[in-house]
Order: sequence, then structure tokens, then C-alpha cells
Amino acid sequence: GGNGGNGKERTLAMIKPDGVSGNYTEEIKRIIVEASFDIAKEMLTQLDKETASAFYDEHSSRSFFPDLVTYMTSGPVLVMILEKTNAVSDWRGLIGPTDAQKAKISHPHSIRALCGTDLQRNCVHGSDSRSSAEREIKFFFEDVVSGDIASQHDEL
Ligand code: PPS
Repeated sequence: GGNGGNGKERTLAMIKPDGVSGNYTEEIKRIIVEASFDIAKEMLTQLDKETASAFYDEHSSRSFFPDLVTYMTSGPVLVMILEKTNAVSDWRGLIGPTDAQKAKISHPHSIRALCGTDLQRNCVHGSDSRSSAEREIKFFFEDVVSGDIASQHDEL
């Protein structure tokens, strides 16, 4: 696991609702391609509450969790599998710190500095480890749930 069978590493990237609605998709994709990632798969989808909650399950006990789910279901997201050597850490480097407000100061050329707002509305997601990448890629592209997502099944 962990790669598409060509020896390269894979990670899960997502353009969150603020990124898609703010029309940053094309610019972010240009940055991705210029950084030598291949976009192996992509899916534009509207997350429902159940799916967003399951994706962020490890944060379910945090006080920000209900807000996070509301935000992540507020509009379409673009989910992508990115492929290159060192994909997981290179994508995390490219997006910058979680808090977009801090990113604007410490990493002004990062993607979150470009299109994020704060700790919640941070424009993009990236898997934080190879094992998270494997889980998250399965979650969106290989699990039964992805059949529901792909058909835009609504269950709010
Ligand atoms: S932590 O504390 O290290 O476990 O959290 P972190 O990895 O930094 O963030 C996990 C995701 O939760 C979002 N997040 C928040 N949303 C709203 N409010 C607050 N205070 C908050 N803190 C963290 C954050 O954007 C992360 O989303 P992803 O998609 O993983 O980047």
C-alpha cells in the first residue's frame, strides 16, 4: 500500500469549501503541477455531516469539532490523490502551517497564506503521515462510502 504501484508515494489533498468557492482551484492545481506532483485521481463532492464527521473522527472529542463539520459541509470540496516521491511531507510543506493567519506571516508563499483565513478556514487539507494518507485515500476512493459520495447522496 501507500503508492499507486509505481514506487511513488501518495497523499490525500483536499481543497476545502472556502478554496473552491473562492475560485482558487485552478491556481492551486497549477502550484501542484509546478511542484511535480501528479494528480492521480480527483473528485468534486459535497460532504454530508456523516461523511465529514467520519473523516475527522480523530478530532471528534475536540470543542471545535461541530464547527469543523459545519464548515466542511458548507459547500463542495475537491479531493485529490497526489503522487510523487515524498508526497506526504512535500504537500504538507507546500500548504504551510494549519493556522492560515500564522502562515501569512511565517510562510507567505504557502497555499494557506494564499487562500486561507484562520485555523478553521484554512483552504486545504493534507494527510499528516503516510498511514493517514493510506486511510484517507481509502476513505474517499476505495471504501463503500465513496460510492455514496460519488453519487452526491444527500443525508443531512
Ligand atoms: S491538533 O490540535 O494538532 O490535533 O489539530 P490540527 O492537526 O492542528 O488540526 C486538525 C484539523 O482541525 C482543524 N482545527 C480547527 N478547526 C476549527 N477550530 C479550531 N480551533 C481548530 N483547530 C484545528 C484544522 O483546520 C485541521 O484541519 P485539517 O483538514 O486537518 O488541516
